[in-house]
Amino acid sequence: MAVKNEILQVAQECRLNAYAPYSEFKVGAAVLTVNNKVFVGCNVENASYPCGTCAEAGAISAMIAAGEHCIAEILIIADTKCILPCGNCLQKIAEFGNAETLIHSADLHGNIKTFTLQQLLPHNFDAGDMKC
Ligand code: THU
Repeated sequence: MAVKNEILQVAQECRLNAYAPYSEFKVGAAVLTVNNKVFVGCNVENASYPCGTCAEAGAISAMIAAGEHCIAEILIIADTKCILPCGNCLQKIAEFGNAETLIHSADLHGNIKTFTLQQLLPHNFDAGDMKC
C-alpha cells in the first residue's frame, strides 16, 4: 500500500473521533515521520472557542510525545473539500519539517491535493531568526 493511502486511512478514521460540536466541521490528520512512524489527530473544540485545537496540532503533539521530531509528510482530511492547514498549523508543521515536507489535503470523495511546505509557507519565522 502506498504510504499516502495508509496515512489517508488512519486520518479518515481519526476524523470520526473529532470533537466538533460547535463548528460541526470534523477534521482528521496523520503525520508520517522520517522514521516511518505514523501519528494521528483530530480537532478538539471547546465551549471557550479559542481553546479548541486543530487536527494537525493533535497529530504533532502525539508525534512529539512519542519521541519523534521530523515530519516527512502530513495529511489532513475534511468533508467539504480539500482544505489547507491554517496559518497557525503551518507554523507548527514548519517547526518539525522543512521546505520539502509534503502536505496532502484530502476530502471524503478521494480527491487529494499535495503541496510542499515551501509552497504554503514560503517565508516563515524560525529559530534561526532569533540569532544575530
Ligand atoms: N480545523 C482543523 O482542525 N484544521 C485545519 O487545518 C483547519 C480548521 C478545525 C478547527 C475547528 O475545530 C474547525 O476545523 C473549524 O474551524
